[in-house]
Amino acid sequence: MSSISIVGLGNMAGALADRALAGGNAVEIIGRDPAKAKELADALGGATVGTVGAA
Ligand SMILES: NC(=O)c1ccc[n+]([C@@H]2O[C@H](COP(=O)([O-])OP(=O)(O)OC[C@H]3O[C@@H](n4cnc5c(N)ncnc54)[C@H](OP(=O)(O)O)[C@@H]3O)[C@@H](O)[C@H]2O)c1
Repeated sequence: MSSISIVGLGNMAGALADRALAGGNAVEIIGRDPAKAKELADALGGATVGTVGAA
């Protein structure tokens, strides 16, 4: 299992995160708006919200 950080909340971010989660990886979503990042992470199921600094 890998730990994958994705910056952005758009079409590519959602698609890549979905495939990474399906492959059994840990995925964190990073966006300029933390509330929107949480929305995407929740919608994906199993993703978490991260920060650029920590990544
Ligand atoms: N969609 C495709 O099929 C496709 C195919 C090949 C390549 N690409 C490329 O992949 C990239 C993303 O495409 P997309 O369709 O996912 O675009 P998108 O839906 O417009 O999403 C772009 C995301 O990037 C974020 N972003 C932009 N500048 C940022 C910055 N300086 N710091 C943090 N976040 C930033 C935006 O944040 P905000 O919401 O805060 O603005 C948004 O969440 C583009 O470069 C595109 O050309 C896309």
